[in-house]
Amino acid sequence: MTKKYFIITFGCQMNKSDSERIASLLELMGYKPAQKINRADLIVVNMCSIRQSAVDRVYGKIFDFAKLKTQNSKLKTVLTGCILKKDRQKFAQKFNLILNIKDLTKWPLPLIMSDRTLLEENYLNIKPKYQTQFSASIPISNGCNNFCSYCVVPFTRGPLVCRDHRKILKEVRKVIKNGTKEIWLLGQNVDDYQSREINFAKLLKMVNDIPGDFWIRFTSSHPNYFSDELIKTIGECEKVTPYLNLPVQSGDNKILKKMNRPYTVARYKKLVKRIRKEIPGIALSTDIIVGFPGETKKQFENTKKLFKEIKYDMAYIAQYSPRQGTAALKLEDNVSQKEKNRREKVLTKILEKTALENNKKYIGKIINILPTKHKNGFLTGKSFHYKTVKLKGKKDLIGKFIKVKIIDALPWGLKGKLL
Ligand code: SAH
Ligand code: SF4
Ligand code: F3S
Repeated sequence: MTKKYFIITFGCQMNKSDSERIASLLELMGYKPAQKINRADLIVVNMCSIRQSAVDRVYGKIFDFAKLKTQNSKLKTVLTGCILKKDRQKFAQKFNLILNIKDLTKWPLPLIMSDRTLLEENYLNIKPKYQTQFSASIPISNGCNNFCSYCVVPFTRGPLVCRDHRKILKEVRKVIKNGTKEIWLLGQNVDDYQSREINFAKLLKMVNDIPGDFWIRFTSSHPNYFSDELIKTIGECEKVTPYLNLPVQSGDNKILKKMNRPYTVARYKKLVKRIRKEIPGIALSTDIIVGFPGETKKQFENTKKLFKEIKYDMAYIAQYSPRQGTAALKLEDNVSQKEKNRREKVLTKILEKTALENNKKYIGKIINILPTKHKNGFLTGKSFHYKTVKLKGKKDLIGKFIKVKIIDALPWGLKGKLL
Protein backbone atom coordinates (compact mmCIF):
# COMPACT_ATOMS: atom_id res chain seq x y z
CA MET A 1 0.00 0.00 0.00
CA THR A 2 1.14 3.51 -0.69
CA LYS A 3 2.60 5.25 2.29
CA LYS A 4 1.09 8.54 3.32
CA TYR A 5 2.72 11.63 4.77
CA PHE A 6 1.49 14.61 6.77
CA ILE A 7 3.51 17.78 7.34
CA ILE A 8 2.91 20.18 10.22
CA THR A 9 4.54 23.55 9.67
CA PHE A 10 5.30 26.22 12.26
CA GLY A 11 7.01 29.58 11.84
CA CYS A 12 7.64 31.97 9.00
CA GLN A 13 7.15 31.91 5.24
CA MET A 14 10.61 30.42 4.85
CA ASN A 15 9.47 27.34 6.77
CA LYS A 16 6.27 27.13 4.76
CA SER A 17 8.33 27.25 1.62
CA ASP A 18 10.68 24.56 2.98
CA SER A 19 7.67 22.34 3.66
CA GLU A 20 6.77 22.54 -0.01
CA ARG A 21 10.18 21.11 -0.85
CA ILE A 22 9.78 18.39 1.79
CA ALA A 23 6.41 17.43 0.26
CA SER A 24 7.85 17.21 -3.20
CA LEU A 25 10.75 15.08 -2.03
CA LEU A 26 8.45 12.68 -0.20
CA GLU A 27 6.28 12.34 -3.29
CA LEU A 28 9.34 11.54 -5.37
CA MET A 29 9.93 8.75 -2.89
CA GLY A 30 6.44 7.41 -3.58
CA TYR A 31 4.62 8.87 -0.60
CA LYS A 32 1.15 10.37 -1.08
CA PRO A 33 -0.31 13.18 1.03
CA ALA A 34 -2.60 12.04 3.85
CA GLN A 35 -5.83 14.02 4.04
CA LYS A 36 -5.93 13.57 7.81
CA ILE A 37 -3.14 13.21 10.30
CA ASN A 38 -4.48 9.90 11.61
CA ARG A 39 -4.08 8.39 8.13
CA ALA A 40 -0.36 9.18 7.94
CA ASP A 41 2.54 6.71 8.08
CA LEU A 42 5.01 9.54 8.28
CA ILE A 43 4.57 12.83 10.11
CA VAL A 44 7.07 15.61 9.56
CA VAL A 45 7.11 18.52 11.99
CA ASN A 46 8.82 21.57 10.53
CA MET A 47 9.44 23.60 13.65
CA CYS A 48 10.17 27.18 14.62
CA SER A 49 12.15 28.36 17.65
CA ILE A 50 11.81 32.11 17.37
CA ARG A 51 9.97 32.35 20.70
CA GLN A 52 9.42 29.83 23.48
CA SER A 53 5.70 29.73 22.65
CA ALA A 54 6.60 28.32 19.21
CA VAL A 55 8.64 25.53 20.81
CA ASP A 56 5.86 24.77 23.30
CA ARG A 57 3.48 24.15 20.42
CA VAL A 58 5.69 21.27 19.27
CA TYR A 59 5.53 19.70 22.72
CA GLY A 60 1.76 19.85 22.39
CA LYS A 61 1.93 17.84 19.18
CA ILE A 62 4.10 15.12 20.72
CA PHE A 63 1.26 14.36 23.07
CA ASP A 64 -1.03 13.76 20.06
CA PHE A 65 1.57 11.52 18.40
CA ALA A 66 1.67 9.15 21.35
CA LYS A 67 -2.05 8.57 20.80
CA LEU A 68 -1.65 8.12 17.06
CA LYS A 69 1.11 5.56 17.61
CA THR A 70 -1.27 3.36 19.55
CA GLN A 71 -3.47 3.29 16.41
CA ASN A 72 -0.62 2.81 13.94
CA SER A 73 2.48 1.17 15.37
CA LYS A 74 4.42 1.79 12.15
CA LEU A 75 3.96 5.56 12.34
CA LYS A 76 7.25 7.43 11.89
CA THR A 77 7.80 10.96 13.12
CA VAL A 78 10.46 13.32 11.86
CA LEU A 79 11.47 16.66 13.30
CA THR A 80 13.13 19.31 11.14
CA GLY A 81 13.32 23.10 10.71
CA CYS A 82 14.72 25.60 13.18
CA ILE A 83 15.74 23.67 16.27
CA LEU A 84 17.85 24.88 19.18
CA LYS A 85 20.60 22.61 20.50
CA LYS A 86 19.08 22.08 23.92
CA ASP A 87 15.70 21.21 22.43
CA ARG A 88 17.33 18.82 19.95
CA GLN A 89 18.41 16.56 22.80
CA LYS A 90 14.99 16.63 24.40
CA PHE A 91 13.17 15.98 21.16
CA ALA A 92 15.52 13.16 20.14
CA GLN A 93 13.64 10.76 22.40
CA LYS A 94 10.25 11.93 21.21
CA PHE A 95 10.78 11.68 17.45
CA ASN A 96 12.01 8.77 15.36
CA LEU A 97 14.33 11.06 13.48
CA ILE A 98 15.67 14.59 13.63
CA LEU A 99 16.84 15.73 10.20
CA ASN A 100 18.55 18.91 9.17
CA ILE A 101 16.54 20.82 6.56
CA LYS A 102 19.73 21.80 4.76
CA ASP A 103 20.41 18.08 4.23
CA LEU A 104 17.01 17.60 2.61
CA THR A 105 18.65 16.36 -0.58
CA LYS A 106 20.23 13.55 1.41
CA TRP A 107 17.20 12.52 3.45
CA PRO A 108 16.25 9.58 1.28
CA LEU A 109 19.45 9.24 -0.74
CA PRO A 110 19.57 5.46 -0.93
CA LEU A 111 15.98 5.34 -2.14
CA ILE A 112 16.06 7.90 -4.87
CA MET A 113 19.63 8.10 -6.09
CA SER A 114 18.35 8.01 -9.63
CA ASP A 115 16.64 11.40 -9.40
CA ARG A 116 18.92 14.07 -10.74
CA THR A 117 17.35 17.00 -8.86
CA LEU A 118 18.31 15.38 -5.60
CA LEU A 119 21.97 15.49 -6.41
CA GLU A 120 21.84 19.28 -6.17
CA GLU A 121 24.18 20.76 -3.61
CA ASN A 122 21.75 23.36 -2.34
CA TYR A 123 18.47 22.04 -0.96
CA LEU A 124 16.74 25.24 -2.09
CA ASN A 125 17.05 23.96 -5.64
CA ILE A 126 14.68 21.07 -4.98
CA LYS A 127 11.52 21.89 -6.89
CA PRO A 128 8.80 22.37 -4.28
CA LYS A 129 5.27 21.05 -4.35
CA TYR A 130 3.66 24.50 -4.31
CA GLN A 131 0.68 24.80 -2.00
CA THR A 132 -1.27 26.79 -4.53
CA GLN A 133 -0.96 27.25 -8.23
CA PHE A 134 -1.43 31.01 -8.21
CA SER A 135 1.08 31.99 -5.54
CA ALA A 136 4.65 30.72 -5.33
CA SER A 137 7.20 31.26 -2.57
CA ILE A 138 10.69 31.29 -3.96
CA PRO A 139 13.64 31.51 -1.55
CA ILE A 140 16.47 33.69 -2.75
CA SER A 141 18.66 33.13 0.28
CA ASN A 142 18.81 31.22 3.52
CA GLY A 143 20.32 32.06 6.89
CA CYS A 144 21.51 35.34 8.36
CA ASN A 145 24.78 36.96 9.43
CA ASN A 146 23.32 39.77 11.49
CA PHE A 147 23.17 38.29 14.97
CA CYS A 148 20.59 40.62 16.41
CA SER A 149 21.10 39.98 20.11
CA TYR A 150 17.68 38.37 20.69
CA CYS A 151 17.44 36.18 17.59
CA VAL A 152 17.98 32.46 17.00
CA VAL A 153 17.89 32.52 13.21
CA PRO A 154 21.69 32.80 12.67
CA PHE A 155 22.01 29.70 14.88
CA THR A 156 19.15 27.62 13.52
CA ARG A 157 19.54 28.49 9.84
CA GLY A 158 23.24 29.28 9.81
CA PRO A 159 25.10 31.98 7.88
CA LEU A 160 23.63 33.74 4.88
CA VAL A 161 23.82 31.72 1.68
CA CYS A 162 22.45 33.31 -1.49
CA ARG A 163 21.05 31.27 -4.33
CA ASP A 164 22.47 31.71 -7.78
CA HIS A 165 20.27 34.30 -9.50
CA ARG A 166 20.00 32.16 -12.64
CA LYS A 167 18.38 29.34 -10.64
CA ILE A 168 15.94 31.83 -9.11
CA LEU A 169 15.01 33.26 -12.51
CA LYS A 170 14.57 29.77 -13.93
CA GLU A 171 12.18 28.87 -11.13
CA VAL A 172 10.21 32.09 -11.58
CA ARG A 173 9.88 31.54 -15.34
CA LYS A 174 8.62 28.02 -14.75
CA VAL A 175 5.90 28.95 -12.25
CA ILE A 176 4.78 31.89 -14.41
CA LYS A 177 4.40 29.52 -17.32
CA ASN A 178 2.21 27.35 -15.10
CA GLY A 179 -0.11 30.26 -14.35
CA THR A 180 1.26 31.66 -11.09
CA LYS A 181 0.02 35.19 -10.43
CA GLU A 182 2.00 36.07 -7.34
CA ILE A 183 5.69 35.51 -6.65
CA TRP A 184 7.06 35.81 -3.12
CA LEU A 185 10.85 36.25 -3.02
CA LEU A 186 11.90 35.05 0.41
CA GLY A 187 14.89 35.53 2.65
CA GLN A 188 15.62 36.62 6.21
CA ASN A 189 16.88 39.90 4.74
CA VAL A 190 16.20 39.93 1.03
CA ASP A 191 17.88 43.31 0.62
CA ASP A 192 21.14 41.69 1.74
CA TYR A 193 21.11 39.47 -1.38
CA GLN A 194 24.28 39.28 -3.47
CA SER A 195 25.13 36.66 -6.04
CA ARG A 196 28.11 37.51 -8.28
CA GLU A 197 27.40 41.01 -9.58
CA ILE A 198 23.65 40.77 -8.90
CA ASN A 199 22.22 42.53 -5.85
CA PHE A 200 18.58 42.51 -4.78
CA ALA A 201 17.63 45.59 -6.83
CA LYS A 202 19.06 44.00 -9.97
CA LEU A 203 17.39 40.69 -9.20
CA LEU A 204 14.01 42.42 -8.79
CA LYS A 205 14.46 44.12 -12.14
CA MET A 206 15.31 40.82 -13.82
CA VAL A 207 12.22 39.16 -12.34
CA ASN A 208 10.15 42.18 -13.38
CA ASP A 209 11.41 41.80 -16.96
CA ILE A 210 10.01 38.27 -17.25
CA PRO A 211 6.94 38.56 -19.50
CA GLY A 212 3.55 37.78 -17.99
CA ASP A 213 0.75 39.11 -15.84
CA PHE A 214 1.93 38.64 -12.25
CA TRP A 215 2.81 40.43 -9.01
CA ILE A 216 6.15 40.37 -7.25
CA ARG A 217 6.30 40.49 -3.44
CA PHE A 218 9.25 40.00 -1.10
CA THR A 219 10.04 39.68 2.60
CA SER A 220 11.77 40.57 4.95
CA SER A 221 13.88 43.67 4.54
CA HIS A 222 16.49 44.97 6.93
CA PRO A 223 16.59 48.77 7.29
CA ASN A 224 20.37 48.69 7.12
CA TYR A 225 20.55 47.29 3.59
CA PHE A 226 17.65 49.16 2.03
CA SER A 227 19.53 51.20 -0.57
CA ASP A 228 18.41 54.13 -2.73
CA GLU A 229 18.97 51.93 -5.77
CA LEU A 230 16.48 49.45 -4.33
CA ILE A 231 13.89 52.15 -3.56
CA LYS A 232 14.18 53.47 -7.09
CA THR A 233 13.88 49.99 -8.58
CA ILE A 234 10.73 49.17 -6.60
CA GLY A 235 9.22 52.46 -7.75
CA GLU A 236 10.05 51.73 -11.38
CA CYS A 237 9.12 48.04 -11.63
CA GLU A 238 5.42 47.86 -12.40
CA LYS A 239 5.03 44.27 -11.18
CA VAL A 240 6.69 44.86 -7.82
CA THR A 241 3.86 45.51 -5.36
CA PRO A 242 3.88 48.65 -3.19
CA TYR A 243 4.03 46.79 0.12
CA LEU A 244 7.02 46.65 2.40
CA ASN A 245 7.75 44.88 5.68
CA LEU A 246 10.52 46.94 7.26
CA PRO A 247 11.12 45.67 10.80
CA VAL A 248 12.20 48.42 13.18
CA GLN A 249 12.06 46.26 16.39
CA SER A 250 12.24 49.31 18.70
CA GLY A 251 11.83 53.07 18.59
CA ASP A 252 14.56 53.72 21.15
CA ASN A 253 18.21 54.19 20.19
CA LYS A 254 19.63 52.59 23.33
CA ILE A 255 17.44 49.51 22.94
CA LEU A 256 18.30 49.29 19.24
CA LYS A 257 21.96 49.27 20.20
CA LYS A 258 21.40 46.55 22.79
CA MET A 259 19.53 44.61 20.12
CA ASN A 260 22.52 44.97 17.80
CA ARG A 261 20.35 46.67 15.19
CA PRO A 262 22.85 48.96 13.45
CA TYR A 263 20.63 52.03 12.81
CA THR A 264 19.10 54.87 14.79
CA VAL A 265 15.47 55.94 14.95
CA ALA A 266 16.34 59.08 12.99
CA ARG A 267 17.93 57.04 10.20
CA TYR A 268 14.94 54.70 10.05
CA LYS A 269 12.57 57.66 9.82
CA LYS A 270 14.62 59.23 7.03
CA LEU A 271 14.57 55.93 5.17
CA VAL A 272 10.78 55.70 5.45
CA LYS A 273 10.51 59.27 4.19
CA ARG A 274 12.61 58.49 1.11
CA ILE A 275 10.61 55.32 0.47
CA ARG A 276 7.28 57.16 0.70
CA LYS A 277 8.51 59.89 -1.61
CA GLU A 278 9.70 57.51 -4.33
CA ILE A 279 6.84 54.99 -3.97
CA PRO A 280 3.74 57.05 -3.16
CA GLY A 281 0.98 55.14 -1.38
CA ILE A 282 3.24 52.26 -0.36
CA ALA A 283 1.78 50.13 2.44
CA LEU A 284 4.20 49.68 5.33
CA SER A 285 4.39 47.00 7.98
CA THR A 286 6.94 46.35 10.69
CA ASP A 287 8.11 43.95 13.39
CA ILE A 288 8.38 45.13 16.99
CA ILE A 289 9.61 43.47 20.15
CA VAL A 290 8.14 44.74 23.42
CA GLY A 291 9.75 44.11 26.79
CA PHE A 292 13.33 43.63 25.62
CA PRO A 293 15.61 43.23 28.70
CA GLY A 294 15.90 46.55 30.51
CA GLU A 295 13.32 48.33 28.34
CA THR A 296 12.06 51.13 30.58
CA LYS A 297 8.65 52.75 30.36
CA LYS A 298 10.30 55.79 28.85
CA GLN A 299 12.07 53.74 26.22
CA PHE A 300 8.79 52.07 25.37
CA GLU A 301 7.23 55.51 25.04
CA ASN A 302 9.77 56.18 22.28
CA THR A 303 8.56 53.12 20.42
CA LYS A 304 5.00 54.30 20.91
CA LYS A 305 5.91 57.70 19.51
CA LEU A 306 7.57 56.24 16.42
CA PHE A 307 4.65 53.90 15.95
CA LYS A 308 2.21 56.82 15.96
CA GLU A 309 4.38 58.86 13.66
CA ILE A 310 4.94 56.25 10.96
CA LYS A 311 1.27 55.20 10.82
CA TYR A 312 1.88 51.58 9.87
CA ASP A 313 -0.59 49.53 7.86
CA MET A 314 0.32 46.38 9.74
CA ALA A 315 2.69 45.28 12.49
CA TYR A 316 3.87 42.01 13.95
CA ILE A 317 4.21 42.79 17.64
CA ALA A 318 6.05 40.20 19.72
CA GLN A 319 6.80 39.98 23.42
CA TYR A 320 10.46 39.38 24.10
CA SER A 321 11.29 35.73 24.71
CA PRO A 322 14.80 34.74 25.90
CA ARG A 323 16.48 32.31 23.51
CA GLN A 324 19.33 29.90 24.02
CA GLY A 325 22.68 30.89 22.54
CA THR A 326 21.75 34.52 21.85
CA ALA A 327 23.70 37.46 23.25
CA ALA A 328 20.65 38.94 24.98
CA LEU A 329 20.34 35.83 27.14
CA LYS A 330 23.01 37.38 29.38
CA LEU A 331 20.65 40.28 30.08
CA GLU A 332 17.97 39.84 32.69
CA ASP A 333 14.48 39.35 31.24
CA ASN A 334 13.19 41.90 33.74
CA VAL A 335 10.05 43.33 32.16
CA SER A 336 7.13 41.58 33.82
CA GLN A 337 4.64 39.51 31.87
CA LYS A 338 1.91 41.95 32.84
CA GLU A 339 3.89 44.90 31.53
CA LYS A 340 4.73 43.06 28.28
CA ASN A 341 1.01 42.41 27.80
CA ARG A 342 0.25 46.05 28.42
CA ARG A 343 2.88 47.28 25.96
CA GLU A 344 1.64 44.90 23.30
CA LYS A 345 -1.93 46.13 23.80
CA VAL A 346 -0.93 49.79 23.62
CA LEU A 347 0.76 49.27 20.25
CA THR A 348 -2.10 47.14 18.91
CA LYS A 349 -4.52 49.96 19.73
CA ILE A 350 -2.42 52.50 17.85
CA LEU A 351 -2.10 50.12 14.93
CA GLU A 352 -5.86 49.66 14.81
CA LYS A 353 -6.25 53.41 14.42
CA THR A 354 -3.50 54.05 11.87
CA ALA A 355 -4.41 51.00 9.79
CA LEU A 356 -8.05 52.08 9.67
CA GLU A 357 -7.04 55.60 8.73
CA ASN A 358 -4.87 54.26 5.90
CA ASN A 359 -7.55 51.85 4.75
CA LYS A 360 -10.20 54.55 4.52
CA LYS A 361 -8.21 56.13 1.69
CA TYR A 362 -9.23 53.22 -0.52
CA ILE A 363 -13.00 53.78 -0.16
CA GLY A 364 -14.54 54.51 -3.55
CA LYS A 365 -11.41 53.41 -5.41
CA ILE A 366 -11.27 50.65 -7.99
CA ILE A 367 -8.41 48.25 -7.37
CA ASN A 368 -7.08 44.87 -8.51
CA ILE A 369 -7.49 41.85 -6.25
CA LEU A 370 -6.14 38.32 -6.41
CA PRO A 371 -8.76 36.17 -4.65
CA THR A 372 -7.34 33.11 -2.90
CA LYS A 373 -10.22 31.85 -0.73
CA HIS A 374 -13.95 31.28 -1.00
CA LYS A 375 -16.36 30.75 1.89
CA ASN A 376 -20.12 31.25 2.29
CA GLY A 377 -20.40 33.09 -1.00
CA PHE A 378 -17.54 35.47 -0.19
CA LEU A 379 -14.17 35.74 -1.85
CA THR A 380 -11.11 36.97 0.04
CA GLY A 381 -7.83 37.96 -1.41
CA LYS A 382 -5.06 40.50 -1.32
CA SER A 383 -4.86 43.75 -3.21
CA PHE A 384 -1.81 45.07 -5.03
CA HIS A 385 -0.94 46.88 -1.75
CA TYR A 386 -1.33 43.60 0.19
CA LYS A 387 -4.60 44.65 1.80
CA THR A 388 -7.06 41.89 2.64
CA VAL A 389 -10.26 42.42 0.65
CA LYS A 390 -13.56 40.60 1.11
CA LEU A 391 -16.35 40.64 -1.45
CA LYS A 392 -19.31 38.67 -2.74
CA GLY A 393 -18.31 36.51 -5.67
CA LYS A 394 -18.07 33.08 -7.22
CA LYS A 395 -15.47 30.47 -6.46
CA ASP A 396 -14.21 30.28 -10.03
CA LEU A 397 -12.60 33.72 -9.65
CA ILE A 398 -9.97 32.28 -7.31
CA GLY A 399 -6.50 32.78 -8.71
CA LYS A 400 -7.57 35.42 -11.25
CA PHE A 401 -6.98 39.16 -11.09
CA ILE A 402 -10.31 40.94 -10.69
CA LYS A 403 -11.34 44.60 -10.55
CA VAL A 404 -13.11 45.56 -7.35
CA LYS A 405 -14.67 48.76 -6.04
CA ILE A 406 -13.91 49.37 -2.36
CA ILE A 407 -17.05 50.18 -0.38
CA ASP A 408 -15.89 50.03 3.24
CA ALA A 409 -12.76 49.93 5.38
CA LEU A 410 -11.91 48.15 8.62
CA PRO A 411 -8.59 48.18 10.54
CA TRP A 412 -7.64 44.73 9.25
CA GLY A 413 -9.03 44.91 5.74
CA LEU A 414 -11.38 46.27 3.10
CA LYS A 415 -14.81 45.40 1.80
CA GLY A 416 -15.36 45.45 -1.93
CA LYS A 417 -17.85 44.99 -4.73
CA LEU A 418 -17.13 43.13 -7.92
CA LEU A 419 -17.21 45.36 -10.99
N1 SAH B 1 14.81 38.64 9.45
C1 SAH B 1 13.75 39.40 9.85
C2 SAH B 1 12.86 38.76 10.91
C3 SAH B 1 13.11 37.39 11.41
S1 SAH B 1 12.33 36.82 12.84
C4 SAH B 1 14.30 40.71 10.37
O1 SAH B 1 15.44 40.85 10.67
O2 SAH B 1 13.53 41.62 10.52
C5 SAH B 1 10.76 37.56 12.84
C6 SAH B 1 10.50 38.46 13.98
O3 SAH B 1 10.43 37.75 15.19
C7 SAH B 1 11.56 39.51 14.23
O4 SAH B 1 11.46 40.59 13.38
C8 SAH B 1 11.34 39.88 15.67
O5 SAH B 1 10.45 40.97 15.79
C9 SAH B 1 10.70 38.61 16.27
N2 SAH B 1 11.64 37.96 17.19
C10 SAH B 1 12.82 37.42 16.90
N3 SAH B 1 13.41 36.93 18.01
C11 SAH B 1 12.57 37.19 19.04
C12 SAH B 1 12.62 36.96 20.46
N4 SAH B 1 13.65 36.37 21.03
N5 SAH B 1 11.57 37.37 21.19
C13 SAH B 1 10.52 37.99 20.62
N6 SAH B 1 10.43 38.23 19.32
C14 SAH B 1 11.44 37.85 18.53
FE1 SF4 C 1 17.22 37.55 13.24
FE2 SF4 C 1 18.29 39.92 13.04
FE3 SF4 C 1 18.87 38.07 11.23
FE4 SF4 C 1 16.45 39.16 11.30
S1 SF4 C 1 18.39 40.24 10.85
S2 SF4 C 1 16.93 37.01 11.12
S3 SF4 C 1 16.12 39.49 13.47
S4 SF4 C 1 19.42 38.03 13.38
FE1 F3S D 1 11.01 30.46 13.07
FE2 F3S D 1 13.10 29.61 11.75
FE3 F3S D 1 11.39 31.24 10.58
S1 F3S D 1 13.05 30.15 13.89
S2 F3S D 1 10.60 32.45 12.25
S3 F3S D 1 10.97 29.21 11.28
S4 F3S D 1 13.57 31.19 10.32
